[in-house]
Amino acid sequence: MTPTTSLDIPVIAIDGPTASGKGTVAQKVAEHLGYHYLDSGALYRLVGLASFKKGISTASEQELAPIAKNLSVIFQGDRIILDDEDVSDQIRQEEMGRRASEVAIHPMVRQALVTRQRAFRQKPGLVADGRDMASVIFTDAVTKVYLTASAESRAERRYKQLIAKGFSANIQVLLQDLRDRDERDANRSSSPLKAVEGAHCLDTTSMTIEEAVNQILKWHQVN
Ligand code: C5P
Repeated sequence: MTPTTSLDIPVIAIDGPTASGKGTVAQKVAEHLGYHYLDSGALYRLVGLASFKKGISTASEQELAPIAKNLSVIFQGDRIILDDEDVSDQIRQEEMGRRASEVAIHPMVRQALVTRQRAFRQKPGLVADGRDMASVIFTDAVTKVYLTASAESRAERRYKQLIAKGFSANIQVLLQDLRDRDERDANRSSSPLKAVEGAHCLDTTSMTIEEAVNQILKWHQVN
């Protein structure tokens, strides 16, 4: 009998631009299937935050790589603990999203996070959301989804999320920031955001979360 390896554990990879609804959709798909969930963007946000606290510039690849490698982080349900501090809300702030996309351009930072991301592949399965889940981290994912939505509807969703959390926000500033981040994510040389061949493309501009979740579950059932 061939022993079971982590490669036998199914992965659903959900990639797409910022605020496309990936996080919410991926979590619901994971809940529905009883799978684990990886929010890979949170890792880049954590590197953004940890380096900010140490006064390290997002341009300093040499100093950022060890921070990424040695992040002392615990994922506790929907809470994220960094060095014994609950940073769940801090990493969601727009400033940390921007820093995340700046640290994410560095190959050494990306490389330092590979093993940590793959360790989330546990039975009975994993739903992983990010930018390079299908293209780099889980190239053998059984179901690959590229989720997107128009920039305007993504800015509006982000606006509502921030207001609901009690943060102040300006929709025009959000829209510009989101376009800048799309540009950086899609044009960097290391693991740029793109839909891989064989990925199911889902434009959620006029879809509800439930519709998107159901569509992904249907694709996954067929695989
Ligand atoms: O998904 P989220 O908005 O939290 O990601 C923050 C930033 O982290 C993205 O703009 C992107 O630059 C980076 N990221 C990445 N690769 C991933 C996940 C996130 O480069 N797999």
